[in-house]
Amino acid sequence: MARASSPAAAAFLCALAFLLATAASGARLTVRAGGEVLTVRAGGGAPATAVFALGSFWRSEAAFGCLHGVLRTSVGYAGGSKANPEYRNLADHAECVKVEYDPRQIQYKQLLDVFWASHDPREVFGQGPDVGNQYRSVIFTNGTLEARLAALTKEREQAKDRSSVITTKIQPLGAFYPAEPEHQKFELKRKPFLVQLIGNLPEEELLSSTLAAKLNAYAAELCPPKTQRKISSKIDEIAKKGWPILRDI
Ligand SMILES: *[C@@H]1O[C@H](CO)[C@@H](O)[C@H](O)[C@H]1NC(C)=O
Repeated sequence: MARASSPAAAAFLCALAFLLATAASGARLTVRAGGEVLTVRAGGGAPATAVFALGSFWRSEAAFGCLHGVLRTSVGYAGGSKANPEYRNLADHAECVKVEYDPRQIQYKQLLDVFWASHDPREVFGQGPDVGNQYRSVIFTNGTLEARLAALTKEREQAKDRSSVITTKIQPLGAFYPAEPEHQKFELKRKPFLVQLIGNLPEEELLSSTLAAKLNAYAAELCPPKTQRKISSKIDEIAKKGWPILRDI
């Protein structure tokens, strides 16, 4: 390794060495650090998983469901010590969304951008009307690369305004407990018409369906405006034809 002139530079070179050492064939990963842009290959074709807490998990799940490359979303509890938490008794856990994605189509860094844009990380003890520790802001990381990217983007957010503190915690993901079925795809289930439109999928299929994740985002109006309009017109078209089942968008 090249000689570094300062501890910060040394740390950066170590992180770089780690990235290059762990890079396998597969997806391209772009990492911006210290003003440099690095592109490495990582991950192969296997889906990757990211977990975030950013307020009510009903909305959090919808915030990620419409992104190109997101394969599945689900909600649960993490970050606490209580075994088997439940919605009415989650103790020290946070409400979370688990995002499964194809790293060839969307990168962890882009998920982080959506994380920051989808809540107010400066709010203390909740988000808007949702008050409490369970609504805290957390990036749950798996490995050094995710932790490094999380820290870099947190610094970037903090630098935008130093008059208040970014409350977001960055911590390794421990146990993730899936939430009860009624909290999965909550926004979609608020619109029974949409649930019916995709054939009243059983819970298990709702959990694993990319289409359900997308429609869950649509139901919450969290797809980009153009996509919202596209889905709306497709639904109108289908309804006019007398209710066949929507298979894809
Ligand atoms: C953490 O990442 C490794 C690969 O880097 C993967 O095999 C493992 O399943 C991941 N764990 C979680 C909880 O996503």
